[in-house]
Amino acid sequence: MLNFEFYNPTKIVFGDDTIARLSDLVPADARVLVLFGGSSARKNGTLNEVTEALGSRTVHQFGGIEPNPSYETLMEAVTLVRNENLDFLLAVGGGSVIDGTKFVAAAVNFAGDPWEILLNHGTNVAGALPFGTVLTLPATGSEMNCGSVITRRETQAKLAFLSHHVFPQFSILDPTKTYTLPPRQIANGVVDAFVHIVEQYLTYPVGGRVQDRFAEGLLQTLIEVGPLALETPQDADARANLMWTATLALNGLIGAGVPQDWATHMIGHELTALHGIDHARTLAIVLPSLLNVQREQKRAKLLQYASRVWQLNEGDENERIDAAIRRTVQFFESLGIKTRLSDYDLGPDTIDKVVDQLIAHGMTALGEQKSITPEVSRTILEGAL
Ligand code: NZQ
Ligand code: ZN
Repeated sequence: MLNFEFYNPTKIVFGDDTIARLSDLVPADARVLVLFGGSSARKNGTLNEVTEALGSRTVHQFGGIEPNPSYETLMEAVTLVRNENLDFLLAVGGGSVIDGTKFVAAAVNFAGDPWEILLNHGTNVAGALPFGTVLTLPATGSEMNCGSVITRRETQAKLAFLSHHVFPQFSILDPTKTYTLPPRQIANGVVDAFVHIVEQYLTYPVGGRVQDRFAEGLLQTLIEVGPLALETPQDADARANLMWTATLALNGLIGAGVPQDWATHMIGHELTALHGIDHARTLAIVLPSLLNVQREQKRAKLLQYASRVWQLNEGDENERIDAAIRRTVQFFESLGIKTRLSDYDLGPDTIDKVVDQLIAHGMTALGEQKSITPEVSRTILEGAL
């Protein structure tokens, strides 16, 4: 196993009817900004519950954070926080609202141009406002990690930053708040969480037995509950399991002490920035081809994945690997997520653009072995046409 440090200070409050707990979790004298997305939190009553739980505190609201949150919109929230002297942020929504809130938290007191936070991937963040989250979409794990992905519309740059200063203080996970999600977002959530696990598991063996078995258990849980969550939206048990699995998929635990890949995510971010494809869908396009192209580097773990996750033990090594990749594709497609560029009306001409953007963003040595050069990324995308 590799050396590691593991740190995660986020308190999780999990279960039905837990939004009322905000009255204790947010400091009594806080001046709060509640941040949310488009219309869902207002329509399904979550925002009302939040406002009620915050009681007599000073509360301002900032709505309109888009999916793939934009720097341009978030800077408006930064101005509001500064003008009103607000000192606590509360994100109510999915990964986009939470990521946006992390950026606002880090940007408010940042000395200099806040876009520098993204250009330096967070290494220059020296502090952040405290914040909590009320999660309404299980997918990204943002509710229990210190990562954030922000898009600058002006330049079509979608960049990530990481900083220990932007761990949420707490996150409320009430599975009943996911009942109003459209099937598309549930499917996206299952695939995003699945790929988060794969990016930390399907690399090369380092003897991280417990990390491997946690990862395999989480993958198997998604394979079980993903279809249930789609078939029966009010299946409380399926929703609860999906929510907790998505959080555990990217809270640092399964990635501690093992190599990590993340090339699928980096290539996928460029597809979202250029073409507006949902985050999870970009992953479903890139991952199968990446596994195929990287089969030598990932051979041992691909065989382990085939056997332990999909019970594929027949045939020679390449047949088992092919079958495991095929099962992965079938799983994504069974959830209604298409896996080829052509399914999104994209052809060979997009590949040059994606590769150019990867180079512009310094993404030239991706993957757990840093062996995915722009040329390898091109081969991966060609395999996904
Ligand atoms: O805007 P509203 O009206 O609220 O609607 C949202 C949005 O349109 C809707 N929604 C959310 N909760 C709902 C609901 N609709 C009905 N009922 C509810 N309970 O869902 C739509 C998508 O929301 P969004 O927050 O964009 O989705 P997701 O949670 O998948 O977040 C995606 C973003 O997270 C980033 C992605 O790149 C993308 O920008 N990621 C963040 C990560 C992290 N911080 O660790 C890791 C991930 O790999 C990912 O990159
Ligand atoms: Zn993701």
